[in-house]
Amino acid sequence: MKNVWLELKKKKNKAPILALAPLAGYTDSAFRLICKNFGADVVYSEMASVTALYYESEKTLDLLKFCKKEKPYIVQLFGSDPAHFVKAVKIIEKEIKPDGFDINFGCPVKKVLKQGAGARLMSNLKLSREIIENVLKSTKLPLSVKIRTESFSIGALEFVKNISDLPVSALMVHGRTLKQLFSGPIDLKIIKEIKDNFSGVVLANGGINNFKEIEGLVQATGVDGVGIGRGALGRPWIFSDKCSNLNQTELKDLIFKTAYKHLKLIKKNKGEAGLGEFKGHLAWYFKDFAGASSLRAKIMNAKSFSEIENIIKA
Ligand SMILES: Cc1cc2nc3c(=O)[nH]c(=O)nc-3n(C[C@H](O)[C@H](O)[C@H](O)COP(=O)(O)O)c2cc1C
Repeated sequence: MKNVWLELKKKKNKAPILALAPLAGYTDSAFRLICKNFGADVVYSEMASVTALYYESEKTLDLLKFCKKEKPYIVQLFGSDPAHFVKAVKIIEKEIKPDGFDINFGCPVKKVLKQGAGARLMSNLKLSREIIENVLKSTKLPLSVKIRTESFSIGALEFVKNISDLPVSALMVHGRTLKQLFSGPIDLKIIKEIKDNFSGVVLANGGINNFKEIEGLVQATGVDGVGIGRGALGRPWIFSDKCSNLNQTELKDLIFKTAYKHLKLIKKNKGEAGLGEFKGHLAWYFKDFAGASSLRAKIMNAKSFSEIENIIKA
């Protein structure tokens, strides 16, 4: 069985691996494909509940469907019950056939923490290890983990040392503590320590807003690549070096063209049910240029994709 992480490392030949980080509510099939077309090397699904999959939720399984052009594609899972992970992994391997699995150890959302998952799971070293061991035993696909620099007093390094003998292929570290949530400085020192103490592929994540910042983060930490989250929202060309120096007119043109393509894709995949999510994306596309706020207001009031299509065309 091929290991996507080893292949990516070989293919990139010391250039940074560029990953689209998981973003619930955003990184669906349409957005993943758009990022892939702009140069993302690997894309993650939105986090999916292993408990929902354990109880055979069709809706959750549907959320994980993808198209081949997105590959390599990683499915991210959250939960806290080893048995739920085992069943979920088996179902997904059979029904979805992704290139790898990822476990979420960083989500700060209360509903997730309450069930002992996400960042709460990172702080439970014994259970984290048990879940990782069980997933490794249940699938031939490579496993990665996504962690924070600290969660409930457990540091990233402690977490990594606790699993250092297990064949975990990759790790994405969000360079912020649980307390920081999604803002504030990225801890370069801890990211570098993780790189020095983890034998698999290490991706640094947090606060990357343009192509140049990728290089800065890689140089400062020695990581194998980066995970880009919000920096890709409304600006999916962040993965493309070629698009890093556009003038205002070229940029505006790219925004409209990409938003239009995105609309077509999401409409094809989800029908009118995707309208609310697409409005979320449009709020990111239509900012930072003259007239953007009135355009946003019009779009938020739109009742259908065809209404939005007309606004974009106009
Ligand atoms: C709206 C939103 C949804 C997110 N969903 C997930 C998720 O499903 N799984 C996950 O591991 N992290 C999730 N994250 C965290 C991001 O993957 C990333 O670690 C964080 O946003 C920092 O990176 P950035 O500064 O590049 O956005 C989410 C973040 C945001 C803002």
